[in-house]
Amino acid sequence: MAPQWLWLDLLAVLVVAAERDSLLNVCMDAKHHKQAPGREDGLHEQCSPWKDNACCTLNTSHAAHQDQSYLYNFNWNHCGSMSERCKKHFIQDTCLYECSPNLGPWINQADTSWRQERILNVPLCKEDCEMWWEDCKEDMTCKENWHKGWNWTTGTNQCPRGSMCLAMKFVFPEPKDLCEKIWTNSYQYTTFQKGSGRCIQMWFNSTQGNPNVAVAKYYSRARRDFAACLPLALLFPVLLVLQ
Ligand SMILES: *[C@@H]1O[C@H](CO)[C@@H](O)[C@H](O)[C@H]1NC(C)=O
Ligand SMILES: *[C@@H]1O[C@H](CO)[C@@H](O)[C@H](O)[C@H]1NC(C)=O
Ligand SMILES: *[C@@H]1O[C@H](CO)[C@@H](O)[C@H](O)[C@H]1NC(C)=O
Repeated sequence: MAPQWLWLDLLAVLVVAAERDSLLNVCMDAKHHKQAPGREDGLHEQCSPWKDNACCTLNTSHAAHQDQSYLYNFNWNHCGSMSERCKKHFIQDTCLYECSPNLGPWINQADTSWRQERILNVPLCKEDCEMWWEDCKEDMTCKENWHKGWNWTTGTNQCPRGSMCLAMKFVFPEPKDLCEKIWTNSYQYTTFQKGSGRCIQMWFNSTQGNPNVAVAKYYSRARRDFAACLPLALLFPVLLVLQ
């Protein structure tokens, strides 16, 4: 009896370990992502930190910097034109989403026609979320959730009838509201700071490498340790019997 249990346990541990590795260095199955990450020399401007290893193509990195690009036809200027100071954060958010190979621990199934997978609750570094809010708080919007509820009849998103344009500081009273609500909890606000190894950086200087590699490793290991409790729980009664 006991040896079979031990084999099952070993198998469970191996499966859990393989699962953890599949969370590292991956591209999600979404609209524009490459199948697998790789080198992309010449990624455009704000997407360039990912050039050593990216899920985005050169074209995607250019489109990430354009208004109403072919990526999603998304109109940042739905309540008058968005300031450059604010827009740069949305560009960086697009670069992280399209290019990062380190979001594996937060990839989930998506129930939409245009993508199979999405990210959920990516722990964003405090400074990145707060600077985003700070630089956008005076810019206007008519919606809290930018994923759904737009009027797309013209081919690009317009404010739905009955909505009102307000400064983002009223739509999103706190930085946490902006980062979490705008993309339906793709991000989670955290109090972890850049360089802590516990939060994903939207902005980083790639001369010292990509800090998000270690963050993905940390969270996939935390998940493995949790999952490893399951086979141990199975093993425990066996140990009692053996005594
Ligand atoms: C990238 O863009 C160029 C110029 O617009 C186009 O000719 C090319 O086909 C695109 N490449 C891919 C892989 O989409
Ligand atoms: C959507 O936009 C079109 C074109 O601007 C307009 O005619 C229509 O009334 C709008 N519908 C809603 C539900 O907002
Ligand atoms: C990135 O870091 C390097 C070396 O620490 C520095 O020389 C460079 O100016 C930094 N680049 C940016 C854009 O901050």
